Amino acid sequence: MLYKRMPIEIEAPEGFGYENIDCNLSESSFTDQRLSDLGLRLDDLVLLYGDHKGKPELRELIAQEGGFSADDVLLTSGAAMALFIVATSFLNKNDHIVVAKTNYATNIETPRAIGAKVSYLNLRFEDGFQLDIKALDKLITKRTKLVSLTYPHNPTGVLIDEDQLKAIVALVERKGTYLLLDETYRDMSFVPKLPVAARLSDRVISISSMSKSYGLPGIRMGWLISQNKALMETFLAAKEQICITNSVVDEEIAFQYWQKKEQLFAPVRDTIQKNFNILKTFMAQQDVLEWVEPQGGCVCFPRIKSEIDIDMAKFHDILLNQYATYVGRGHWFEADARYLRIGYSWDTSEKLLKGLNNILKAVEVAKCK
Ligand SMILES: Cc1ncc(COP(=O)(O)O)c(C=O)c1O
Repeated sequence: MLYKRMPIEIEAPEGFGYENIDCNLSESSFTDQRLSDLGLRLDDLVLLYGDHKGKPELRELIAQEGGFSADDVLLTSGAAMALFIVATSFLNKNDHIVVAKTNYATNIETPRAIGAKVSYLNLRFEDGFQLDIKALDKLITKRTKLVSLTYPHNPTGVLIDEDQLKAIVALVERKGTYLLLDETYRDMSFVPKLPVAARLSDRVISISSMSKSYGLPGIRMGWLISQNKALMETFLAAKEQICITNSVVDEEIAFQYWQKKEQLFAPVRDTIQKNFNILKTFMAQQDVLEWVEPQGGCVCFPRIKSEIDIDMAKFHDILLNQYATYVGRGHWFEADARYLRIGYSWDTSEKLLKGLNNILKAVEVAKCK
């Protein structure tokens, strides 16, 4: 493995210091929740090694929601670990993978670290970041071990519909390869949610977590789902070699949250909708940024219009150091510097609006005269 730190992690806001940021639009999750707000009871918890696959009662709840059995679910330390397990289980040096680009950086970097041959399915602003299934078809060869997609998509917030998902799954089956679908943002869809993709075929692995929709990234609780028993055995072997089990504390918090998920998630959904409306109104009233309107998640990926002559390094410097506003940067996603990832549901609605207006002010100062 050739490990290399990714710009998105090197420049993460937690490294810069939350106390130095007034308007934090760089996050890709809902507001971090406080333990005391969740009404949990943890005192009787026995701090043993847990079930190797993960707390059975939690796996059962996750399985029920997607129409699976608990044995189809493997709990992991965040979606990040699930992605790592899948990538390292499928790929060796020189194996071929097709991965969507842009993407959550790890989905691209781990195959590279393995030394895999990576083909990119480029999602272009001009196409509304839509997936071109013919282009995907062309990229998959007889040697392709894995296709890796993310929906709702990070950083753009775009979605595919159920027919497109079924067509992708049919393509993957026809070609004899496998699909990894990163569904980490699935609960934050503005359109009807897609089915959990692993339901459609035993050649699909679905991955998700508690981090984004529920604002619980600190418990590092994620999972992968597959109906393929042989694959699940390999994934379990990988997990056991990495960490044996999850933290039982994390599992218990996730389990108790899930038991009252509907009640706890309802206000989250309302806040995301409210912030999305603020963002939409803002976008309609300015002529500096252009965007593809997101259909889910809590991030979008607008760009500064090409007719604006601007020094992007100066823009980010002013935005952060003068206006204490932090946004995701184009290079985090290997995209042009004019792209910004705006997370619209981590900071308060007031800070969101203030941060958005600060973007316009920073553009004004950073314009080349
Ligand atoms: C699409 C996507 N997948 C996976 C992750 C990893 O999340 P976690 O490990 O916190 O569950 C992220 C985090 O930003 C993400 O955006």
